[in-house]
Order: sequence, then structure tokens, then C-alpha cells
Amino acid sequence: MAVAIRQAQPGDIPELVEMINGFAARNLMLPRTPEAVMKTLPDWLVAVEREIEGAETILGCGSLVVLTPELAEVRSLAVHERGHGKGVGSLIVENLVALAKAREFSQVCALTLREEFFQRLGFEIVDRWSISPKLWQECIYCPKFHRCDEVAVMKHLTIRRPEEANPGKVVTANPLLKWQAWQPLKLAYSYKPIHLHEEE
Ligand SMILES: CC(C)(COP(=O)(O)OP(=O)(O)OC[C@H]1O[C@@H](n2cnc3c(N)ncnc32)[C@H](O)[C@@H]1OP(=O)(O)O)[C@@H](O)C(=O)NCCC(=O)NCCS
Repeated sequence: MAVAIRQAQPGDIPELVEMINGFAARNLMLPRTPEAVMKTLPDWLVAVEREIEGAETILGCGSLVVLTPELAEVRSLAVHERGHGKGVGSLIVENLVALAKAREFSQVCALTLREEFFQRLGFEIVDRWSISPKLWQECIYCPKFHRCDEVAVMKHLTIRRPEEANPGKVVTANPLLKWQAWQPLKLAYSYKPIHLHEEE
């Protein structure tokens, strides 16, 4: 299977919403409306299977949400059941983490029922209050707020700026630069297609 990661397009929205809301109906994630996805479309990645004629099949999606100038969240991660267990979800998370780095966030978090999946990708389990902006911005509107069974996970990012005079010096995110980086046009950040499990 040749899987590529690309930025979401408006034409993807019906399929993404159907997939997400199918899992939401089983209490695995929160539902999304087409309008909400449209508003944040530059922050969504999709995984697609590319066929020889150039046709694509959507396999999964995920989005990166700003919580604070330092902290971004991996949200609405979903992979079609037909694609489970083939590394597609991991690939989406890795690309969202790369996007967070490119936008100079210093931490990425998620609230998940699949904490082991995130741990395998370098996230650690943290106290839910470590991601309190998420709780105040979204979770308080969730009917499960007082009986939430999701686990908070966090990954710390280090950013090396090429213009650093000392190439060995690791610098953390600069929030002043970050808001510029957040402009949609900056999303020209390019995703190199990554091929998984290519058939011989
Ligand atoms: C959670 C979810 C996104 C994972 O997607 P996925 O594509 O199945 O993820 P991966 O294939 O990368 O990893 C899943 C498992 O397959 C294993 N795996 C990864 N690559 C593999 C490969 N090439 N061959 C076999 N197994 C593989 C991983 O070790 C992982 O194991 P784990 O489940 O014990 O962690 C997907 O199950 C999903 O959409 N679930 C429903 C929606 C949901 O719960 N969303 C919220 C997530 S916070």
C-alpha cells in the first residue's frame, strides 16, 4: 500500500466528517460538523492511498489545534477501519508532530483512549491538568466532562533553527515568532509523500 500524507482539501470534508462521526457514534471520539472542519481546514492532514492512475482513497485524518503559544493538540485522529493496524495512524501523528515543530510549538498533547498508541510514538502520560487549556477550551462542553475516561498524553519538542549561530545549540519555541508562523500562507509547509508497505 502506497500511503501519502497531504493537506486536507474542501472536497475531502464530507468523507472526513462521515468517518469521524461514525467513530463518535461509538463514543471513540468527539463528532465534528462540516462547518467546523472547513473553518480549520489548513490545520488538517489526510492520509491517502494513491493508485496508479492518480486516483486517491482517503484512509484517515488528524488535525493540529493551537491551545497556547507553546502547546498544540493532536485532535480528530481517525483511520478508516479498513486501514487499521498498518501504520497509517502513526504516520498521521508523526506528520502532525512535524507540523507542530515547523510552527515552533514546544509541546504537543492529545486526550485519548489509546494512550499506548501515543506512548509508542514518544508521548508520555501526564496529569490531565497539564493540558488545562484543552479542558477549559473544549472539555467543559463535553457531556462526559465529569466522568471522562480519556488519558492526557504529551510530547516535548525541541526546535533547531537553521539561522542559529551556534549550530549545536538547541532552542525552545519563541512565541513571538509562532503567531507569524501560524498564518495560513505559512502552510506551504510541504509534506513529502511517504510510502508504506509498497508492494514488490
Ligand atoms: C487510533 C487509530 C487512529 C490508530 O490508527 P491505526 O492506523 O490503526 O494506527 P497504527 O496502525 O499506526 O497503529 C495501530 C497499531 O498497529 C500496530 N502497527 C503499526 N504499524 C503496523 C504494521 N505495519 N503492521 C502491523 N501492525 C502495525 C501498532 O504497533 C499499533 O499497535 P497498538 O494499537 O497496540 O498501539 C485508529 O484505531 C482509529 O481511527 N480508531 C478509531 C478512532 C479513534 O479512536 N480516534 C481517537 C484516537 S485519539
